[in-house]
Amino acid sequence: MPQALDQYLARNFWHCIAHRSELPNDRDFLRFEWILGDLVIYNDKGTFVAFDNICPHRGARFLLDRDGNQPLSCAYHGWGYRGGKLRIPKPENYKPCDLERARLNSYHTAWCGDFLFVAITPLTDLPTQLGGLADILAGMSHDITQRHARIDYPYECQWQVAVENALEPDHVPLVHTNTLNLLHLHAGRNSYYTYNSVLNASIGNETITRGLNRIARFFDVPHSQKTYTAIYIFPFSFLSSTYGYTYSLQNFLPSGEKQKTYFTTRMFHSRLVNAEKNREIIKPFLDSVEQVNETVFKEDFEICKRIAPDFPLTSHNSILSNTEEKILHFRKCVEEVDARRQAHGTSA
Ligand code: FES
Ligand SMILES: [Fe+2]
Repeated sequence: MPQALDQYLARNFWHCIAHRSELPNDRDFLRFEWILGDLVIYNDKGTFVAFDNICPHRGARFLLDRDGNQPLSCAYHGWGYRGGKLRIPKPENYKPCDLERARLNSYHTAWCGDFLFVAITPLTDLPTQLGGLADILAGMSHDITQRHARIDYPYECQWQVAVENALEPDHVPLVHTNTLNLLHLHAGRNSYYTYNSVLNASIGNETITRGLNRIARFFDVPHSQKTYTAIYIFPFSFLSSTYGYTYSLQNFLPSGEKQKTYFTTRMFHSRLVNAEKNREIIKPFLDSVEQVNETVFKEDFEICKRIAPDFPLTSHNSILSNTEEKILHFRKCVEEVDARRQAHGTSA
């Protein structure tokens, strides 16, 4: 019942879906797709609303773009949403009891620093789910000031394949030969925070570290570890960073179709010293990080689509190397959640 498990994960866990800097203005929005349809984050006069993008009148989707700035107003019969309230033209034409029932299908939101998490029927509060990771994430989120790029496309595999691929470094020499591999990452250290994990690995390529140290003066990053950091936020999200200068938030959202995962990634940069002056100077660096990231994700996309659709992704009888330890941890976590789902006898 993989679909039921994916639904259960989507509904019952918190998902790191946005950074505050992506929706700075009233009426800014982001739209995503996942197994539950659309997921929209909307800045409603400074309050961030998460909902399913569906007009409660007769089901038209409010927003069609990936992101932008526009009033939440339905193109079909003009219902709108503003200041926390539905705005319905000619309310006298409806029965009062029907109007009382009309509401957006909105979701729970919670902040971890400046990262916005969304949940529908969460099993726990966000700090409990993050298992001690909250302070680390919040610190990083406060260093980020601006989004630089967004990419969305579907991976042609199930979401677990994409997550497992992102959890292990063994594929880097063969799959990312001329990109990530050039960093000569050391093995690093994994730390676990319940279902989540953090990898800190130092960069072995001295030409690259010299270059990174040279541009340190442009970034005001008190939380920088001077390492490559990759954080897995169970179940669908990753946050990675090099030296804390740039961050990449990736989500691998289940689609409900077996060989399709909605991949969305945002690249951010951290606070600049003397931003007015240095923004232009640092732009070529940011553009080159964006280019490399884009290539790395395409390389991952290509290898993930090679994985046989029915190859078992279970913790039993799996053949995994020492450096694939996080995959085993991930599989056990998913199995634990699935056991809980079955014990509850529900998919929602
Ligand atoms: S469906 Fe939105 S106003 Fe009718
Ligand atoms: Fe990869």
